[in-house]
Amino acid sequence: MDTTTLKVLVERAEKSKIGQVDFNNLSFGNVFTDHMLVCDYRNGVWETPKVMPYQPISLEPSAKIFHYGQSIFEGMKAYKDADGATWLFRPLENQKRLNISAHRMAIPELPEEYFMEGLKALLRTDEQWIPTSEGSSLYIRPFMLASGTGFHASPANEFKFIIACAPSGSYFSGKVKVLIEEKYSRSANGGVGYAKAGGNYAGQFYPTQLANEKGYQQVIWTDDNNHEYIEEAGAMNIFIRINDTLITGPTSDRILDGITRKSILEIAKDEGIPVEVRKITVSEVVEASKNGTLKEMFGAGTAAVVSPISSFGYRDADYDLPELENSYASRLKKRITDIQYNKAEDKFGWRY
Ligand code: COI
Repeated sequence: MDTTTLKVLVERAEKSKIGQVDFNNLSFGNVFTDHMLVCDYRNGVWETPKVMPYQPISLEPSAKIFHYGQSIFEGMKAYKDADGATWLFRPLENQKRLNISAHRMAIPELPEEYFMEGLKALLRTDEQWIPTSEGSSLYIRPFMLASGTGFHASPANEFKFIIACAPSGSYFSGKVKVLIEEKYSRSANGGVGYAKAGGNYAGQFYPTQLANEKGYQQVIWTDDNNHEYIEEAGAMNIFIRINDTLITGPTSDRILDGITRKSILEIAKDEGIPVEVRKITVSEVVEASKNGTLKEMFGAGTAAVVSPISSFGYRDADYDLPELENSYASRLKKRITDIQYNKAEDKFGWRY
């Protein structure tokens, strides 16, 4: 494939819905832009990507996505700076991770130019949908699903790559209360925890509902073996500060290689914060809370950026985190969002 000749077709919506949207009161991921990008995989090739009006897609009831959950996704954002220029944050990392997920889920990989040219064509078409209000951005959801049919439990032979976008505000409002989970697991060695497979998230809903009923917003996932190690926070990576050291677990089969996670690690090192990427046990965190050395816990992900945790529940007891002036969470969030919104120098070369 000659990368310079990839064409993206564009069919514009007859009428824009943008006038119906209150950009000053955006929730997360609930209103969708005028267009979407669709690219079909048939007969062993990805066909010409097309920007088209946002609309329902038609699938047969026997499409394998419905039966075997062969689907993956990514989460990204587009930001507007004060001069009205549009920025993405490390988009090639999303493109690479989409293909890592695709590989694990027996979905054909998507060439880089399909992802990038398709994304750019969509964003050019829907550019006026990128919010300019403080803390808002255009949440971008690239995903792939098995559209090929058949009840045989084997990979489909046809797929769709779609990008849909939603102008969005914050994912969480305020700090979150979390529950350390000891019965259910998010992932296992040899499993798909490192992939952004739709089923990984569906499997979290029920344990999270149980935690919600007890008054917690999110679950802290521990390892599937002995529920001894802290691994992720809901749909985010987790960071724990003990004394001045910022700790997060190493990526593995079970932990997603989050783009926010690895950016936070680099920024923290640049800030002179002592960082440790190592396994951390629940008992170490409980002990640190009891002896006053546990200073902060926060989740990190594209949607929520940096999400501070106010307290955690473990075996019928709640442990509160202190309120800190100049917390790592607020410092790191400011550094990363200043880069994303082109408010500060980007010494890492992450803006696109
Ligand atoms: C993101 O942070 O973008 C994610 O993909 C998590 C999602 C469940 C909102």
